[in-house]
Amino acid sequence: MKAIVLVGGQGSRLRPITYDVPKAMVPLRNRPFMAFMVEFLRAGGLGGAVLSLGYLPDPIQEYFDGRNLDGFSIDYAVEDRALGTAGGIKNAEEYLDGGPVVVVNGDVLSGVRLSEAIAKHKESDALATITLTSVEDPTAYGLVEVDHDMLVRRFLEKPAADEVTTNLINAGIYVLEPEVLNMIPAGREFSIEREIFPYLQAEGRLRAYVSSSYWKDIGTPRSYLAASHDVLSGAVGAGESFDFLQVAPSAEIGKGVKVLPPVSVAPGCVLENGATVGGRSSLGRGCRIGEDAIVEGSILFDGAEVETGAVVRGSIIGPGARVGQDAIVRGLSVLGARCVVGEGNVLDQGVRINPGVVLPPRSMSF
Ligand code: GTP
Repeated sequence: MKAIVLVGGQGSRLRPITYDVPKAMVPLRNRPFMAFMVEFLRAGGLGGAVLSLGYLPDPIQEYFDGRNLDGFSIDYAVEDRALGTAGGIKNAEEYLDGGPVVVVNGDVLSGVRLSEAIAKHKESDALATITLTSVEDPTAYGLVEVDHDMLVRRFLEKPAADEVTTNLINAGIYVLEPEVLNMIPAGREFSIEREIFPYLQAEGRLRAYVSSSYWKDIGTPRSYLAASHDVLSGAVGAGESFDFLQVAPSAEIGKGVKVLPPVSVAPGCVLENGATVGGRSSLGRGCRIGEDAIVEGSILFDGAEVETGAVVRGSIIGPGARVGQDAIVRGLSVLGARCVVGEGNVLDQGVRINPGVVLPPRSMSF
């Protein structure tokens, strides 16, 4: 059995990072998200995946081309214009074998027991089974009501607090019978969530599989950073032991540097004298942390630089971006690729700086 992985979206909520890096390739503990996706599908007993691509397909294909996945097959179905979630599934149909298929949103990090979801689906007469997960604050999501024998009863899109009847949301992992693919028109934009599932629900052919396993989507800066913290802390995965202090041997560590686990420091990083790399941070290849600079709870993409005395907390620094001397970047701020935050600037409260933007130095006089 194969999976279709939907990775063709623009990832607009994760801009400015996704102007340069497709959401499917953002790093978690210095591995691209797609590596976790393949592990998840293999653990579910699947033999291969068709990647349904559209926006920025090249970095994804380059990552997989020539990579040994021990027999797990990868095919690509590339759209020349966005076809939506159902259109992306239809576009991948030619690579399937005609049986049921698993479909996964390509931005979901989860420990859902896929093989169990597939088995439950096969036991039922459903045309589709949709995996649900519970969230603490359901008001930001589309909710799914189910009845006592797991038939989907109703979809509620982003309800007000007093309309919340369930905390179960669509986890973006489905098992579909081939008949469902026949319902999708070829070559045009179509949505599985809005156009196929409500129809199947009305026909009584849509079932739910409720999962209590780890689940997080990486679609927003907040959830991506949280997923990164979870991966660094070992909260995701099969519980295998790993090194909480993952510092590449080629990293240069100066005098008096503090590196507090869990962290991941990729090859070629330079941590200058007195720098602190605090827990739950990941530094991509070739990052430079200047003297006495502090990085905590943050994701730095390849080649990012934090200059002398600067502080980066709970933020995302894009590839090749630079945080100038004594600048502060905190509070879920996101810097796009190659942008420069000049000396002494303070960025806070989810500020997003587009790729290549240069913020001039700010006077330090009081
Ligand atoms: P936002 O722009 O932030 O909403 O992100 P998105 O469109 O990338 O993701 P969304 O959560 O809306 O979509 C769920 C999944 O479907 C993501 O993994 C997307 O990559 C994927 N997806 C969305 N639209 C398309 C599309 O037109 N074609 C394909 N192949 N995949 C899509």
